[in-house]
Amino acid sequence: MQTTIVAKPRLVRCFNGRNIVITGASQGIGRAIANELCANGANLLMVARRQETLCRARNELVSLNPQGRFDIFACDIGKPDEVDKLVDHVASNFQRIDGLINNAGIVNPGRFEQIPPNQIEEEININLLHNACYPQIVTLYPRRRLC
Ligand SMILES: NC(=O)c1ccc[n+]([C@@H]2O[C@H](COP(=O)([O-])OP(=O)(O)OC[C@H]3O[C@@H](n4cnc5c(N)ncnc54)[C@H](OP(=O)(O)O)[C@@H]3O)[C@@H](O)[C@H]2O)c1
Repeated sequence: MQTTIVAKPRLVRCFNGRNIVITGASQGIGRAIANELCANGANLLMVARRQETLCRARNELVSLNPQGRFDIFACDIGKPDEVDKLVDHVASNFQRIDGLINNAGIVNPGRFEQIPPNQIEEEININLLHNACYPQIVTLYPRRRLC
C-alpha cells in the first residue's frame, strides 16, 4: 500500500541526514516509522528477517525520497550469530549511528491460554530477551549518545 507522508519542519531539523537503525522495518509499526523518518530526511538501515519484504519497503521509501539512503539487512535478532553480522555491517558501513529503534517483535494474537507454550516462549525471547543489538551498537560508538 502506498503511503502519503508529509514532512514536519521541526522533525526535519531533528532527523535530516541522521543515520537511524530500525529493526522490524519491513511492515507494521516499524515500516510506518521508517516512512516518517524518510519523509524527514533520515538515512535508514532497515532490519528484518525476510529480504523480500525489506526490499518492498525500501522501494517505497526510494520512490518517496530518491535522494535518501535506505540500506536493508536481513537478520533474525533472535540469533546471536546474525546479530554479530548486523553489528559488523553497521561498523563497516556507517561512520556514526544517531539512533536505534528496537521495534522488531512478534505478536501472537488470541487468548493467552490458547497460545501454545512454544509460541509464548518465542514471543518472550524475541520481544524481551533478544532485542539486544542495542548494547552492541552502542559499544561501536562509545562517545555518542543514541537518541
Ligand atoms: N501491533 C500492536 O498492537 C502491538 C502492541 C504492543 C506491542 N507491539 C510491538 O510493536 C512491535 C511492532 O509490532 P507490529 O504490529 O508492527 O508487528 P508486525 O507487523 O508483525 O511487524 C514485525 C516486524 O518485525 C520483524 N521481525 C519479527 N521477528 C523478527 C526477528 N526475530 N528478527 C528480526 N525482525 C523480526 C518483521 O519482519 P520479518 O517477519 O521479516 O522478520 C516485521 O518487520 C513489536 O515488537 C510488537 O511486539 C505491537
